[in-house]
Amino acid sequence: MIHTFVDYYGNEVGLSFRREPFSDQPWHVLVICRYEDQWLLTKHPRRGLEFPGGKVEKGEVPEAAAIREVWEETGARLDHLYYLGQYEVRGRSDVVVKNIYFAEVAYLQSKKGYMETKGPILLDEIAERLDQNQDYSFIMKDKVWILAREYLEHYFEK
Ligand code: GTP
Repeated sequence: MIHTFVDYYGNEVGLSFRREPFSDQPWHVLVICRYEDQWLLTKHPRRGLEFPGGKVEKGEVPEAAAIREVWEETGARLDHLYYLGQYEVRGRSDVVVKNIYFAEVAYLQSKKGYMETKGPILLDEIAERLDQNQDYSFIMKDKVWILAREYLEHYFEK
């Protein structure tokens, strides 16, 4: 099943929890992280709070990109990484295909810098109704997070 909706900017999005329904070579990853009963996010200087993630580098598999991006943006080392699903954003100029993972964090290491972000943010709860919330990034404001959370509650009891 493919869920379809529009994102915060009005771009069309397709999302499925099947194995890589849009591309077997996705160029982006988003990693929903849990650490000791909290959500682990990062703070992007312009976009705001979001789960860590980013672009898959040349020669890298998406899982390696997920592990690297989480480390770079939060200083977290992972115990487990699970594939959850994939979404496709059809923008005006290009199409972005992003794998969604769920990660259980082993430990957090303090670092001097966190690449382009302001580092780890641990939250007990993620606010409801994010569409009007200035603190959160636009990537948290469409149905990707809502559907991924439902999926996690169902299959991972998180
Ligand atoms: P950099 O190359 O990282 O500077 O950024 P870019 O603006 O080229 O971004 P990127 O290739 O990551 O994304 C291109 C466009 O796709 C963005 O401007 C967004 O509109 C959209 N996009 C990327 N990731 C997401 C996402 O997770 N959710 C939604 N809804 N849109 C996204």
